[in-house]
Amino acid sequence: MDLARDAYVDGSWLAASKRFAVNDPFDGELVAEVADCDVATVERAIAAAGTAFLAWRKQPAPERGQLLAKVAVLMARDEARLAEICTRENGKALKESLAEVRYAASFIHWFAGEAERIYGETVPSSRGDGRITVLREPVGPCALITPWNFPYAMLTRKLGAALAVGCTVVCKPASQTPLSALALAQLCHEAGIPTGVVNVVTGTEHQRIGQQFFASKTIRKVSFTGSTRVGQDLMRQAAEDVKRLSLELGGNAPFVVLEDADVDAAVAGALVAKFRNSGQSCVAANRFILEAPIAEAFTQKFVAATAKLVVGRGLDPATDIGPVIDDKAVAKIRQLVEDALAKGARLLQGAVPASRAIAPIVIAGVTRDMAIWHEEVFGPVATLRIAKDQAEALEMANDTDAGLVAYVYTSNGTNQVRAAEALQAGMVGVNEGLVSTAQAPFGGVKQSGLGREGSRHGMDDYSNYKYVATKLV
Ligand code: SIN
Repeated sequence: MDLARDAYVDGSWLAASKRFAVNDPFDGELVAEVADCDVATVERAIAAAGTAFLAWRKQPAPERGQLLAKVAVLMARDEARLAEICTRENGKALKESLAEVRYAASFIHWFAGEAERIYGETVPSSRGDGRITVLREPVGPCALITPWNFPYAMLTRKLGAALAVGCTVVCKPASQTPLSALALAQLCHEAGIPTGVVNVVTGTEHQRIGQQFFASKTIRKVSFTGSTRVGQDLMRQAAEDVKRLSLELGGNAPFVVLEDADVDAAVAGALVAKFRNSGQSCVAANRFILEAPIAEAFTQKFVAATAKLVVGRGLDPATDIGPVIDDKAVAKIRQLVEDALAKGARLLQGAVPASRAIAPIVIAGVTRDMAIWHEEVFGPVATLRIAKDQAEALEMANDTDAGLVAYVYTSNGTNQVRAAEALQAGMVGVNEGLVSTAQAPFGGVKQSGLGREGSRHGMDDYSNYKYVATKLV
């Protein structure tokens, strides 16, 4: 397979004296050896983004949009190839990779359109000789730090918005999955995005590269998707230069099933909310909270449905659930499951994981003294807890420091409104197990982050509002 393996800087492919291995998570097979960028290469990328910004911000917005639209077309043309790259390095089932490529392209397509709608404002002044104009300007060159779980979509959600507004970018993909980002850079190049507007630096020295971004006066904003712990550290670093920051951090999503829910619909939604990407998603349902009268019916059908999911190598077309990313992930999942079982939870499906290919695990009788109630499991583990009534279910749902997404299943309109308003989350799925879409603002409250991605609001994170006060003389 033809793979880009070098850093993409100022329109050129830069090799490095050091390289790092990218392995298939299923069996550890070597997929590629990728450039491990040194200090100088990262500085070159930052400088290129700084220089390119001067022209890119002035390029007419519809032209920026047209270039982005070309990238979306090229992604559609190459979707099978892009999906295979994603599965090889991330491990996810090929059908999920294909869905991800389309999801990723939908952000580029969306922001290609939004580029033409960067509206400012005029506001009536309180003075006859005064005029108030509010302009929207790009924040400047941005650093985009993206995770391994959705290597295309987490990048395009940032990159699409940034480029549409007129920002230039230096992307730093996760070291487990750099190949998808490099494949996307190839397509940006082919589409004719001017040199220096998109740069991709790859490497294993995450902290050092992050520090270079924060120390740079050229980089005006950092956008990060990843763990809450790293997000907190980046906030501290951003303080020094008061850099703009967007953070899409961890979740601990509740999935509430109220007594009047359509059980079959709830089970179908639960399978998507829990097992998409092997449960390795910030929006994965972590805690199933079942109102007592419906608990038994939901549990039986859910457990039966999980037993049918096929676990295996991502490239195998029969696979529903690919492996988790690495052995560290297996150890964390095992630890959380063992802790829950030791404290009295019951295993209804699956087994304590021993390898990366983890069959769905369902655990009942979860309580709040178990670590799995508070920590994002990031794997195919569903935990069930019973609530005596609706009020208790919603209280349990909010019993977390995270607030990215919450799901609720109920057929009653009043309950839908009450729950959606009561749930402390940036996004709520009402009878819906998949909230992710380019048209909606994605983001969290509490420790799940700052800012919104996707939708027209996604453009705000890359814009500065400049107020111009004009006195007529
Ligand atoms: C994430 O896991 O961070 C987001 C996944 C999505 O966009 O659905």
